[in-house]
Amino acid sequence: MNPNLKLKSIISSKSAALKGTVEIPGDKSISHRALILGAMTIGETVISGVLKSSDVLKTAGAMEMLGAKIIVNPDNTWSIFGVGVGGFAEPDDVIDCGNSGTGIRLIMGAISTSPITATFTGDESLLKRPMARILQPLGLFGAQSLGRSNGLLPLTLKGACNPVPIKYFSPISSAQVKSAILLASLNAPGETVLVEPEKSRDHTERMLSAFGAKITIDKTETGNSISIQGQPELQPQKIFIPKDPSSAAFPICAALIVEGSSLFVPDVSQNPTRSGLITTLLEMGANISISNQRDFHGEPIADLEIKHSNLIGTEVPAKRVVSMIDEFPILSVVAAFAKGKTVMRGLKELRVKESDRIYTVARGLQKNGVEVEEGDDYLKVYGCNGRVPGGAKVETFFDHRIAMSFLCLGMASKKSVGIDDSASIETSFPNFLELMEGIGANFSPLLD
Ligand code: S3P
Repeated sequence: MNPNLKLKSIISSKSAALKGTVEIPGDKSISHRALILGAMTIGETVISGVLKSSDVLKTAGAMEMLGAKIIVNPDNTWSIFGVGVGGFAEPDDVIDCGNSGTGIRLIMGAISTSPITATFTGDESLLKRPMARILQPLGLFGAQSLGRSNGLLPLTLKGACNPVPIKYFSPISSAQVKSAILLASLNAPGETVLVEPEKSRDHTERMLSAFGAKITIDKTETGNSISIQGQPELQPQKIFIPKDPSSAAFPICAALIVEGSSLFVPDVSQNPTRSGLITTLLEMGANISISNQRDFHGEPIADLEIKHSNLIGTEVPAKRVVSMIDEFPILSVVAAFAKGKTVMRGLKELRVKESDRIYTVARGLQKNGVEVEEGDDYLKVYGCNGRVPGGAKVETFFDHRIAMSFLCLGMASKKSVGIDDSASIETSFPNFLELMEGIGANFSPLLD
């Protein structure tokens, strides 16, 4: 790979047909959770397939600051020697979670019922993201916080000395909010119950159950209800992390829009709480075959074969949004190549991701000749029936999924597409550029 590609601006030009097999890196959500739960368990937890991206490395660093010991073994597994529920040590310095909303919210949840005080911060993007959504329920456990107005970072969290269990109806379906509460509940004596309107990704519940926590999940009239007993005896585990479906989304979608492509993507997570993109692509007429569906240490996985397809626009039901919350930028790119209009509703949460993704996607597509209509919580993309003009440079606002999505746009548009900054890709998919070049992508440094 051209080393200058890692520097900053990149241009993506029409690719030859994408061919081959791609090995997707480990799941980011599961990597964060494995490190945090390993740190909350006494003994050695061994993790295979950890995603070595900057977001996950920040969480690993935070766990060390809180007293856990982490060793990278010669076979590339990671061993984490935890301190046990309620055993976190007070960190000597500010915990900086970089770009990671998941890392910071889960870690704040995990420490909020321990008698320690910690100060948290992050990068320019994280400083803009709402934390009140977790500070409010963590306050019910007895934690106290002081930050900027509206609960923005940097902030200091003082964990509860005598935590109490809570009952909480979350107004949003957010796995980060849910997981922060579940991790907090571990050190609160008694039963914590939380209800979310729609079921969000359930990796925390699956992993908690594997570690030995008593957790029950019920579909109720008000939503997905989870009950958990506090102060469990967590047992160290061997954790195997499946390939990240949100990262797999980029080569999969690129193969759908680049003519003549045929790609094999094995071992990708098929967790139903993450599968909304594949469901939507199939509805659009995508040629994706899913085979060898199997259980991989508590998470479903399968092999995918993708061929270039002539797609048609679709309407994504709002209920499906939570199962593809990170995939709307790349779906919007695919929709730009489809025939007809794609309507995406119920997208309010996209406004508070690494960037305001409704705004960044809409601007990027418009600049590249695609007609869009944007509302407070919806986005409509008017497909160009395979002929996207391209030709413009897109502002990514240090948002990895925006950067990767628009590089995919340039792989199939008439003229090349530029992005202002590729550095954000490091947060979730460090080998994205090499991997895509390996199957036929045509990236080069963009000299301003
Ligand atoms: C994540 C949950 C989602 C998602 C994020 C990862 C997680 O956020 O956007 O990239 O690992 O729990 P929300 O739960 O806030 O929607």
